[in-house]
Amino acid sequence: MSDIQFDGLTRRFRDRAVVREASGHIQSGEFVVVLGRSGCGKSTLLNLLAGLDRPDGGRVRFSEHAFEAMSDRALTLLRRRRIGLIFQAYNLVPTLSVAENVALPLELNGVTATQRVGQWLTRVGLEDFGDAMPEQLSGGEQQRVAVARALVHEPEVIMADEPTGNLDLANAERVVALLDDLCREAGRTLLMVTHSQEVVGLADRLLTIRDGQLVLA
Ligand SMILES: Nc1ncnc2c1ncn2[C@@H]1O[C@H](COP(=O)(O)OP(=O)(O)O)[C@@H](O)[C@H]1O
Ligand SMILES: [Mg+2]
Repeated sequence: MSDIQFDGLTRRFRDRAVVREASGHIQSGEFVVVLGRSGCGKSTLLNLLAGLDRPDGGRVRFSEHAFEAMSDRALTLLRRRRIGLIFQAYNLVPTLSVAENVALPLELNGVTATQRVGQWLTRVGLEDFGDAMPEQLSGGEQQRVAVARALVHEPEVIMADEPTGNLDLANAERVVALLDDLCREAGRTLLMVTHSQEVVGLADRLLTIRDGQLVLA
């Protein structure tokens, strides 16, 4: 399956270690929240665990794959197949319709599956919005499109960077509950970083970042 192990991870920007000797293990199927104030290194850590950035020290292992032994291309392919990413600012492609946005991960993997796109839009409550453009949707709706896009290719792991950061409380709760449901039913791992306490209730495990290090909350 898809457990994630990281040991002694360090990432420096200029002379400052933003992530410092961070170690941990995220088990397959767990919902883990990493909590920490703005600027404490949450996105930096998540980017290392997604293989979007390389550490200055330490290592990441995703299932049987050691990131340090992989090329950037191999990391991109691993992410494309096995990891779904969700960001604070939704990151939808503004020139594509809602359905086309959701279809993107399938197309990148060489799959055409219009039916699956429709099914996932239904699961996030947006079955009537497939032909709409992202800008016509509210923030909460756009983030639900991003949730469908992250899940449509059925990755083992979802990584979410402040997915509720731009949402009001009601929409934040809806998006987190949706992610929790959709990951649990399929035994997917959910790793969420946030500075808001609202999401911690549903998590299996809570980690906090202090001085660049991860500690059990
Ligand atoms: N590419 C970068 N170059 C220089 N400094 C960076 C870079 N990315 C992040 N930082 C700095 O590292 C610190 C942690 O950033 P970040 O991981 O984005 O925090 P968080 O996501 O917890 O708000 C911040 O002080 C930020 O300015
Ligand atoms: Mg951040």
